[in-house]
Amino acid sequence: MRMTSLVLSILLIISCEWGALSFHKSRYLRILRQKHHFQGTEQWFVQRLDHFNAADQRVWKQRFYINDTFYQPGGPVFLMIGGEGTANPAWMDHGSWINFAEKLGAMCLLIEHRFYGKSQPTTDLSTSNLQYLRSDQALADLAHFRAVVDVKMNLTHNKWVAFGGSYPGSLAAWFRLKYPHLVYAAVASSAPVQTVINFSEYLEVVNYSLESYSTSCPLLVKDASDTLVELLPNTNTYSQITLDFQLCEPLEIKSKMDSAYLLETLAGNFMDVVQYNKDNRVFEDPKGTNITVEVVCTIMENSSLGIPYKRYAKVSQLLLDTYEEKCLDASYSKFLSDMLNTSWSAPAADGSRQWAYQSCTEFGYYQSTESLRQPFSGFPLSYKLQQCIDLFGPLFNPVVLADAVQHTNENYGGHNIKGNRIMFPNGSNDPWHILGVTKGHKAIYIQGTAHCADMYPEQQSDVPQLREAREEIFQRLKSWVKQ
Ligand SMILES: *[C@@H]1O[C@H](CO)[C@@H](O)[C@H](O)[C@H]1NC(C)=O
Ligand SMILES: *[C@@H]1O[C@H](CO)[C@@H](O)[C@H](O)[C@H]1NC(C)=O
Ligand SMILES: *[C@@H]1O[C@H](CO)[C@@H](O)[C@H](O)[C@H]1NC(C)=O
Ligand SMILES: *[C@@H]1O[C@H](CO)[C@@H](O)[C@H](O)[C@H]1NC(C)=O
Ligand SMILES: *[C@@H]1O[C@H](CO)[C@@H](O)[C@H](O)[C@H]1NC(C)=O
Ligand SMILES: *[C@@H]1O[C@H](CO)[C@@H](O)[C@H](O)[C@H]1NC(C)=O
Ligand SMILES: *[C@@H]1O[C@H](CO)[C@@H](O)[C@H](O)[C@H]1NC(C)=O
Ligand SMILES: *[C@@H]1O[C@H](CO)[C@@H](O)[C@H](O)[C@H]1NC(C)=O
Repeated sequence: MRMTSLVLSILLIISCEWGALSFHKSRYLRILRQKHHFQGTEQWFVQRLDHFNAADQRVWKQRFYINDTFYQPGGPVFLMIGGEGTANPAWMDHGSWINFAEKLGAMCLLIEHRFYGKSQPTTDLSTSNLQYLRSDQALADLAHFRAVVDVKMNLTHNKWVAFGGSYPGSLAAWFRLKYPHLVYAAVASSAPVQTVINFSEYLEVVNYSLESYSTSCPLLVKDASDTLVELLPNTNTYSQITLDFQLCEPLEIKSKMDSAYLLETLAGNFMDVVQYNKDNRVFEDPKGTNITVEVVCTIMENSSLGIPYKRYAKVSQLLLDTYEEKCLDASYSKFLSDMLNTSWSAPAADGSRQWAYQSCTEFGYYQSTESLRQPFSGFPLSYKLQQCIDLFGPLFNPVVLADAVQHTNENYGGHNIKGNRIMFPNGSNDPWHILGVTKGHKAIYIQGTAHCADMYPEQQSDVPQLREAREEIFQRLKSWVKQ
């Protein structure tokens, strides 16, 4: 299926893609998000602010969407779980789950995650209000939604199946784990169910993926990144670097945070390309979809563009041009002032501030340059940890985070998650597969594919193993819901 209509070409970012990207700032997808606002037929549902305190009677409205076109009475109910961004109604008529729904006569529901998009439980995103932004509260939202909506819509005796990709993939698995009486099965695509603070393996997979193009590609990236790191201590180089990378503000490095932010932003060009390489997301990011590992490695190998450092700048320029951006925002102080704005109308309310909070209080997942088996340097774990303090205050220190991440794994089981009828599809080229479930009967490991690839609409160009994986997911799903 090839998406060509104008409407589709301007759709928002779906949670799967957007979410995972926001793990490292999602510059380009944020730009797309800000430019386009898609309106679907939204519905609203009353939820408690705090499910775990009976004395707190505050409520808010949660947004959801329905597609009942394929529903046959008594058929399954598919619940797509929204993630760390505005719920994208493009899912309501696209994606492999809709094809499964057509074949199985399913009702399709998409529910937006609390604190993202228009599901706004509090008046602003102050740090004290964000205490209600937690995965366990989000799961309780799903449970309450399920318990009330099924009576209202006559879906009580139907089999409910949770779907999600990336963080919502974990939520799908955890929903089945914690509320097995409410949800019959789960398809948890690219779900990083194991939480970890020091996620240094992420960049190792980026290296591996660049290496699958050629041995020299990651080495050239390393050469370029090293050159930049060597230039940074010398203030005389700043105006040249500002020009080379088309920075929005003249480069100024006053602390390790400033240099780390710049280096991370540039590495982010490669992280994005690897994570979403050929993932079929044409319908939401038609511009980015053509920028593949092959494209960036071809630039890195092109010696007529100058030394590797210059080629690195060329890759950055290509992304800026593709997304029609005039300059590259790489200033940590600008980032901080944006992220500290707690208003729902501030740019960081697109999910960036909220997801930063969840990272600092539940998940970590910091893609640091701690490993030596990868090409980048200069944004160590300590930089990511300092960000939590800069954004939310001294209470959000590394000791607190370590306890919180441990609690998350104790609560859900991490890699060793129990429970049956949970599928974990994921791609070998997806850096997140490290934190997922890739072995054992629940795993569907897709050699050579990227983050959430199994969730997108089919395409002519799909690799055979991706087709097979979709078919396997369907067959398993069918055997479960037809029992
Ligand atoms: C409720 O759904 C069941 C099938 O699950 C159907 O037999 C019944 O007629 C429905 N009731 C109403 C009031 O629609
Ligand atoms: C449900 O999805 C199908 C398949 O894309 C589409 O044709 C239909 O219009 C959608 N229905 C609703 C109510 O959105
Ligand atoms: C992406 O590539 C395809 C095929 O090479 C081309 O037809 C299309 O115009 C490109 N899209 C963009 C946005 O550049
Ligand atoms: C290398 O870059 C030059 C200058 O931009 C360009 O003309 C040439 O086509 C590129 N070569 C390859 C193999 O992409
Ligand atoms: C926060 O963002 C909003 C919307 O962009 C803006 O109106 C407001 O002035 C900002 N507040 C601060 C303190 O910068
Ligand atoms: C992070 O993990 C890497 C590889 O597992 C290790 O080499 C590094 O020392 C760790 N860093 C910290 C700060 O724990
Ligand atoms: C990338 O990984 C390969 C092994 O998978 C390793 O040989 C190579 O040195 C790594 N590259 C860098 C820059 O560390
Ligand atoms: C991918 O699947 C494998 C096996 O099912 C699993 O171990 C791994 O965690 C998954 N990765 C993600 C990101 O879900």
